[in-house]
Amino acid sequence: MSGILGNFIVFEGMDGSGTTTQIARLCDFLAKRNRTFFKTAEPSDNIIGRFIRERVLKDSMLSLDREGILHLYVADRFEHVYGGNGVIANLKRNDFVVQDRYFFSSLAYQSVDVPYDKVFELNKSFPYPEFVFYLECPVDICMERISARGLEKEIFEKEDFLRKVSANYDKCFERLPDGVRFCRIDSSKSRDEVFDEIVRAIGDRI
Ligand code: TYD
Repeated sequence: MSGILGNFIVFEGMDGSGTTTQIARLCDFLAKRNRTFFKTAEPSDNIIGRFIRERVLKDSMLSLDREGILHLYVADRFEHVYGGNGVIANLKRNDFVVQDRYFFSSLAYQSVDVPYDKVFELNKSFPYPEFVFYLECPVDICMERISARGLEKEIFEKEDFLRKVSANYDKCFERLPDGVRFCRIDSSKSRDEVFDEIVRAIGDRI
């Protein structure tokens, strides 16, 4: 991975860890302080990201090779970071970019089936974000929250799989470059407590 993008804020966590809720709160907080931001996510809403969300994650019958899926995530990311309405373009137009998931998700999820070093290699041209909030959540709580949604489970939303994802997240956050502000938060706490920690970590910049 090359370089660090200032004011780029990424949230990571397993399915059910509550990133969507906390991102919505952070965006409200920024708006109230008249800070401009671009809220986004990966998989993105470009054509590759939509294919991943609508087909790859939903359709267990599609059975694409797991390494092929890795390439789809990387292709989506390339467009999403460097494209016309992407992360870099939006950092020029806004005070912040706030994003749900980034290459750390590939390191955590795709490395369950593909060697970690290969996943790392394919993602190494992407810049690091300045802020990473990792909402850490015990797998059983994630599974309860996923079930409570009442939706059909996506292909990665399985207990055994998520245990491996959790271990991979630990691995990928072990070594981050100087200048990346990493904040690990226990997301089994209440929503308010989690959000307070986020504000404490980023408050000096808002
Ligand atoms: P998620 O943000 O959980 O989508 P939603 O909550 O809207 O359904 O992300 C979709 C899934 O994609 C999630 O299970 C994690 C997975 N994923 C990867 O496996 N690799 C990646 O690089 C990314 C960005 C996501």
